[in-house]
Amino acid sequence: MVKICCIGAGYVGGPTMAVIALKCPEITVSVVDISQSRISAWNSDHLPIYEPGLDDVVKKCRGKNLFFSTDVEKHVAEADIVFVSVNTPTKTQGLGAGKAADLTYWESAARMIADVSTSNKIVVEKSTVPVKTAEAIERILTHNRKGINFQILSNPEFLAEGTAIQDLFKPDRVLIGGRETPEGAKAIKALKDVYAHWVPVDRIICTNLWSAELSKLAANAFLAQRISSVNAMSAICEATGADVSEVSHSVGYDSRIGPKFLNASVGFGGSCFQKDILNLVYICECSGLPEVANYWKQVIKVNDYQKSRFVNRVVSSMFNTVSGKKIAILGFAFKKDTGDTRETPAIDVCKGLLGDKARLSIYDPQVSGDQILRDLSMKKFDWDHPVHLQPSSPNSIKQVSVVWDAYEATKDAHGICILTEWGEFKSLDFKKIYDSMQKPAFIFDGRNVVDVEKARKIGFIVYSIGKPLDPWLKDMPAVA
Ligand code: NAD
Ligand code: UDX
Repeated sequence: MVKICCIGAGYVGGPTMAVIALKCPEITVSVVDISQSRISAWNSDHLPIYEPGLDDVVKKCRGKNLFFSTDVEKHVAEADIVFVSVNTPTKTQGLGAGKAADLTYWESAARMIADVSTSNKIVVEKSTVPVKTAEAIERILTHNRKGINFQILSNPEFLAEGTAIQDLFKPDRVLIGGRETPEGAKAIKALKDVYAHWVPVDRIICTNLWSAELSKLAANAFLAQRISSVNAMSAICEATGADVSEVSHSVGYDSRIGPKFLNASVGFGGSCFQKDILNLVYICECSGLPEVANYWKQVIKVNDYQKSRFVNRVVSSMFNTVSGKKIAILGFAFKKDTGDTRETPAIDVCKGLLGDKARLSIYDPQVSGDQILRDLSMKKFDWDHPVHLQPSSPNSIKQVSVVWDAYEATKDAHGICILTEWGEFKSLDFKKIYDSMQKPAFIFDGRNVVDVEKARKIGFIVYSIGKPLDPWLKDMPAVA
């Protein structure tokens, strides 16, 4: 009987292992983590992450063949296959700070595997890592324990938050990279057999280790590049009177381009895109490829531009000052159907508005007030380094209140910024909201969820990313 252990019970480790346990009832899966609170939550009725469909999967397997534990060493020692799904954030200090991946957590997991292992193991890189990490890990593992055979595989994860369970049930592909040796091929087959329980074999791609590691960075870079491309177009649309939704639709009809991932927005967020592109940029710079590094850097620059462009639009539309004005922020998560706020564009937009002395009233259906205040107080890149996370409640911020209702957030506000595309924002009673607001009442829709014509008929002045400008806004000073 195969035993699997996964180190790291986060957004990837938890859902991925729950699905493996569901689809492979004869395999025992243990998910381990150094965070006691995370493991307690996985063992409770309130899972540590909000992900549609996850509760059901966990309920079906937990206690049968799926276990969550802080006894990291015991479960690693007993396992045949060890997945490593720890965080690999951007370095905040030292060599490569602000770009390179911080492999501290990965390395300490690898050293622990080496220390506690008494039998052969397949070690699977699930975390997103720089190319050639497998080689470094191999050195740590083989250096410490002579006589034990460790096979390293790269098996990057492609799930997106909010749709993780569906993505895991029906992945576009599963990618497995391994050494091109007989032992490597055997290890690849063992992992392939796990996925083959539910993934058609023609969707399981096997490559060498470096191709698998690089493919993950490449996929995220390509996806983020599409968003920056359409966001760059949104700026041209606003300057010319074209409509970005119509442009996306027309462009996406070309089967070589395809219709997905062409929604203009206030900017992409999430824990992966920026971090993985910075990681790629760093690899290029270290490989003597400055032109390639600059090419990918531009994707992040356009994303930053899109966020500051949005803030400038809000301020310039409201007579060039939001000082003392109440602005309602609807949505704080980096996308709908998740409570995750890592690198959410809402942080930069809120900080920008606070910089102009606005008063913010923030509502998100899945994000706690503590989390929002912590995010607004933290420095860039600090969020994924546990050492920077304050365990206690963060201090309040004078100009920010967090409320649990969109109507409460918008009451007496001068303007509304929609920063996450939550379904419930589409069905809000905008007439009721308009009546309760200061006039003129503005909507700045960073996700194109509002019916612009309807809102304008009610009386709102509406700005929607990449849409023809409201006559009011056309007369305002140009936005840099
Ligand atoms: P996460 O922060 O949610 O989870 C990581 C967990 O690892 C944390 O709970 C942490 O306590 C634990 N951990 C760290 N060091 C440990 C150690 N030595 N021993 C035991 N536990 C340890 O991170 P995540 O979002 O799940 O991402 C994990 C990896 O997967 C990252 O490399 C990320 O880039 C990649 N990834 C993430 C996503 C996503 O949507 N979040 C998608 C694909 C890939
Ligand atoms: C991403 C990748 O999609 C996934 O394959 C990888 O494993 C992890 O990183 P995730 O960050 O969870 O997943 O969500 P994703 O759906 O990719 O959205 C990322 C950001 O881009 C969000 O802020 C989203 O709102 C934004 N986005 C997405 C757009 O602005 N426009 C789009 O058309 C699509």
